[in-house]
Amino acid sequence: MSETGSPNDVSEEHLPSERASAEHGAVAAPAGDPFADPGLPPHQHRVQDIDERAAKRSERTVALLFTLSMLATVAFIAAYVAIPVDKSVYIFPIGHISGLNFALGVTLGVALFCIGAGAVHWARTLMSDVETADDRHPIAATPEVKAKVMADFKQGAAESGFGRRKLIRNTMFGALALVPLSGVVLLRDLGPLPETKLRHTLWRKGKLLVNMNTHEPLRPEDVVVGSLTFASPEGLEEDSHDFQKEIAKAALMIVRIQPDNIKDKRTLDWSHEGIVAYSKICTHVGCPVSLYEQQTHHVLCPCHQSTFDLADGARVIFGPAGHALPQLRIGVNKDGYLEALGDFDEPVGPSFWERG
Ligand code: FES
Repeated sequence: MSETGSPNDVSEEHLPSERASAEHGAVAAPAGDPFADPGLPPHQHRVQDIDERAAKRSERTVALLFTLSMLATVAFIAAYVAIPVDKSVYIFPIGHISGLNFALGVTLGVALFCIGAGAVHWARTLMSDVETADDRHPIAATPEVKAKVMADFKQGAAESGFGRRKLIRNTMFGALALVPLSGVVLLRDLGPLPETKLRHTLWRKGKLLVNMNTHEPLRPEDVVVGSLTFASPEGLEEDSHDFQKEIAKAALMIVRIQPDNIKDKRTLDWSHEGIVAYSKICTHVGCPVSLYEQQTHHVLCPCHQSTFDLADGARVIFGPAGHALPQLRIGVNKDGYLEALGDFDEPVGPSFWERG
């Protein structure tokens, strides 16, 4: 029989058995009841239900779609590896676009579409389409109902052909297993591992502290008690290509505190006559710390209110920051300018970098 043949041409003994056949058809309404259950319309058999060759054709179609999905995923990975990032292609009517993005979009789209189309075609042509009706009942299921549910589930699984149609099952597993690889490959775009780059900044012994507003090297007399000055390392130009990357690690916050008010010995030893230099990068999630309260020597991060005591090693006295702001050891060179005496002795910024 052809795929377009009428199911009515098939004798009754060739039709599949249906457990719900008794439920089909209208239920006679009690006289005078306008809300009686109208029942389900008579079930129409699909050609695949009665023609094994049509069912095989549908099975091959579904398998083909899943196989195409697998090929598209492989093409996605190949495109990611082979197409240069700066390759441009002309696509009508969009114009010039990134060849890599276009290839990744098309291949991933095909891979996902084919999985979806295969699943829909499988459900529409091969899985059981017998509609059933059931009465509403209390939510808590009785043991008999649970047993019936399990029996229905097993029957549904058997009717779906999941166990019997191994070609579909295997190609579907293959497509579903391969498609997540697309996401794994994209992890490469997170860039190379930072290795030890996050542990070091531009600060070195002898680097001058440059005022970030005036761009002039700082002298001790430029830093007065109560003021807050921001500094960057000498030689770091704002128009250099790696300025943002470097200043995000090296930005300094400088205050002068009366030496008698400094509570921590190391803080005093690493200062120059009460001038202390701390990393400006909050140890919570890296916001620039900037709100200084000169009476208490507390500095506040505006993002989540972590508060650090600059007179006591910048220890955390409030908020979610995990540890103190790193202090930079400073001194004065022979020309009278403030200079670093080395790099920070710990990573700056969020604490999790220390675990890398
Ligand atoms: S980033 Fe500073 S408190 Fe959250």
